[in-house]
Amino acid sequence: MIFGHLVEEIAREAGEMLLAKRPARPEVLATKSSPTDVVTALDRACEELIRSRIKAVRPDDAILGEEGGEAGEGRVRWIVDPIDGTVNFLYGLPEWAVSIAVEVDGEVVAGAVNVVPRGEVFTAVKGGGAWLAGERLRCNTGVPLERALVATGFGYESGRRRVQAEILGHVLPRVRDIRRGGAASSDLCSVAAGRVDGYYERGLNPWDYAAGGLIAAEAGARVGGLSGRPNSPGFTLCAASGLFEELHDLLLPLDPERDA
Ligand code: IPD
Repeated sequence: MIFGHLVEEIAREAGEMLLAKRPARPEVLATKSSPTDVVTALDRACEELIRSRIKAVRPDDAILGEEGGEAGEGRVRWIVDPIDGTVNFLYGLPEWAVSIAVEVDGEVVAGAVNVVPRGEVFTAVKGGGAWLAGERLRCNTGVPLERALVATGFGYESGRRRVQAEILGHVLPRVRDIRRGGAASSDLCSVAAGRVDGYYERGLNPWDYAAGGLIAAEAGARVGGLSGRPNSPGFTLCAASGLFEELHDLLLPLDPERDA
């Protein structure tokens, strides 16, 4: 399917550009929702590169990007995070990714997450499985809550973080352990690859979860929100069935979608 090749190709090219141009110590260019929500010059340059590549081959498609917002409208929309895990990128931690998804009529049909420092490009097309380096991915199944390694992440605003810390206090004593990788798209791919058993986070944006959500789903995970709602900026929960429900039932009474 054409979108599958295109997302992968563009995510690879963007990753090469970032590797070639990343200075030893990238500088913060601006802050966004809070002083901890940063953007570097390369976030913007990379998104411009991705937009120009998409426009060159698909001039009529809409594009939603983390840095440049929404442009155009139509049945096909590309959803782009040029650097997911910008804080890791800033510090030289090896967990940041280029995340690109394609949505047709509101449904994600292809996605690629290039975890650049690790040289790993995760891909999926709807109905065609999730893949890494020619290997089909399968998430872990049959893992009970008390043996689950669960990834999560935190937003940038202090009120939201207060609630997230409180929720964590309830989850941590009930599971094997918690991981906070720092790039949501990569966390979702880690569920797909069986490197963690589950993942949850409140307040992601579509560019954080669109590609990784498809990859996790194509690896057999259930990806959704709370109370039967779909995955959305409200809440993202991802795990194989069984663990998904256990995490859901643990989280729901804690009202994790509130802000302090
Ligand atoms: C962030 C990362 C992080 C998650 C935050 C996101 P950004 O994206 O994915 O893991 O916890 O909620 O905003 O800002 O680095 O693109």
